[in-house]
Amino acid sequence: MSRILTGIQSTGVPHLGNILGAILPAIEISNDVKNDSFLFIADLHSLTQVKDPKELKKNTYAVAAAWLAFGLDPKKTVFYRQSDVTECAELAWYLNCFYPYQRLKLAHSFKDKSTRLDDVNAGLFVYPMLMAADILLYDADFVPVGKDQLQHLEMTRDVASRINHKHGDVLVIPQPLLKKDSMLIPGTDGEKMSKSRRNVIDVFQSEKELKKIINKNIVTNDAPLECPKDPNSSTVYKLYELIASSDQSKDMANKLRAGGYGWGHAKKELLTLIIEKYKTPRDKFNYYMSNLNELDEILQAGSLKAKKIADNTLKRLKETIGY
Ligand code: ADP
Ligand code: TRP
Repeated sequence: MSRILTGIQSTGVPHLGNILGAILPAIEISNDVKNDSFLFIADLHSLTQVKDPKELKKNTYAVAAAWLAFGLDPKKTVFYRQSDVTECAELAWYLNCFYPYQRLKLAHSFKDKSTRLDDVNAGLFVYPMLMAADILLYDADFVPVGKDQLQHLEMTRDVASRINHKHGDVLVIPQPLLKKDSMLIPGTDGEKMSKSRRNVIDVFQSEKELKKIINKNIVTNDAPLECPKDPNSSTVYKLYELIASSDQSKDMANKLRAGGYGWGHAKKELLTLIIEKYKTPRDKFNYYMSNLNELDEILQAGSLKAKKIADNTLKRLKETIGY
């Protein structure tokens, strides 16, 4: 059995791109009984950017509620909040002391963030060692990551190898599982859906809000109602196709091509589909967001399981390095 571990950024309510591109595929992997799977909300990493206590808390809840709403099973996956396992911060310190400053200076993500952000704090600089601690603490074998996180994984392997080289095989060297970017979900403007582009669709919003976003923000051309339309060059259709069954998609494509069917009609069908298809996740999300104590219980139960393993690893390492 392989141990698979991933961290999720807690930067707010996950959007449709996050759900289709990250949440659903990860849940599929974690439900596979061959995997021993760990999933956590990286709220210690968030502190590098979020300093508002309410926002920090709320983001974590929103992310947890979204994953549970879309079917993450906390019985099959150890699901926890990073900040509940304080062993992680302790391990990060040891790793900092074993990793050369000059190497850490090579991190692309730090270079990128330090030119973009106002708050360039030291936490941002040692971010890769906290991420290494997340992984090494649980003896993870595989870490599913996007391309942008590959260098952090290399640093994780590097610091673990340095410690093993000096002290014998005390840490497990993890391997990256590169996530394919095959599914790129377009945002309302047709570009990649992303929080930073402000083109997201939040499927957990009220029907009224969702209707407003779909009607106002999804870009269409000015072809009149009676005109035949090309489905494949339209963002409404692309979004519809990602969620609909193949029969539903064919039906909409035929109506667009035939003419007499406007963008307003297509948008209305997209809204109805989102509301119908995501009824259960929407209800569950709202339920959790108004019962935060239940989210806390689930995350705390996960952190107890995580802590047991973390304690062992930390004990093993501390003894080896001289404590
Ligand atoms: P954002 O770009 O909104 O900040 P993140 O970078 O936090 O999103 O992405 C979190 C996860 O969701 C990543 O695994 C990423 O691959 C996935 N993801 C985000 N946007 C999309 C998208 N438009 N299409 C497919 N996957 C996406
Ligand atoms: N840095 C990752 C990201 O930005 C999130 C993360 C934190 C992570 N710790 C991790 C991912 C450990 C995998 C393993 O997406």
